[in-house]
Amino acid sequence: MTLLTFALSKGRIFDETLPLLGRAGITVADDPESSRKLILATNRADLRVVLVRASDVPTYVQYGGADLGVAGSDILMETEGDGLYRPLDLRIARARLSVAVRSDFDYASAVKQGSRIRVATKYTATARQFFADKGVHVDLIKLYGSMELAPLTGLADAIVDIVSTGGTLKANGLVEVEKIADVSSRLVVNPAALKLKREAMRPLIEALERAVGA
Ligand code: PRP
Repeated sequence: MTLLTFALSKGRIFDETLPLLGRAGITVADDPESSRKLILATNRADLRVVLVRASDVPTYVQYGGADLGVAGSDILMETEGDGLYRPLDLRIARARLSVAVRSDFDYASAVKQGSRIRVATKYTATARQFFADKGVHVDLIKLYGSMELAPLTGLADAIVDIVSTGGTLKANGLVEVEKIADVSSRLVVNPAALKLKREAMRPLIEALERAVGA
């Protein structure tokens, strides 16, 4: 029997991947919110789920710690993601990656050609490219969370972060001023695993394709 390891992150990606797995006939035995286990069994002896941080999913799959996984396109944009197949847009965990500022901040002036702006984000590579393409000089401040706080405390002029409902921005007096990209989750696959475990991988990928289409 070939064992397949499927990497997921807790929260929205896990929650929204479950129904897709369900349509592919797969159920996960443990609930990650109540169990502290990092390896979850499924109803299939040849398939297990591992729980990793969202930003670590590409790393696990790239280096073969997992054969396949689900990663947000925001994370994939930010990391090089070389040596990863991305065969399928799962169309889950949809949101957008946007620039947001305090409602009293003059963003239009701040991003005139040749001007300078201070941006806090965990998406530093994506933000650097985005502002470089506009001809705007950007000072980047790397953060790992609570990005919304940065413009409120004077740490930065703007943030680049995920916006879903917009509720978090609103609650913190920030406004979305520019969309950088639409975001959704992709299936990512280790190319070597796809070759070596083809018999096991192919039907699973195809079942997920059908589940997305359904
Ligand atoms: C994201 C993002 C915002 C929030 C936006 O965080 O960083 O804080 O969601 O959602 P909203 O527009 O619906 O309010 P997430 O919950 O994904 O967790 P994270 O901070 O771990 O990325």
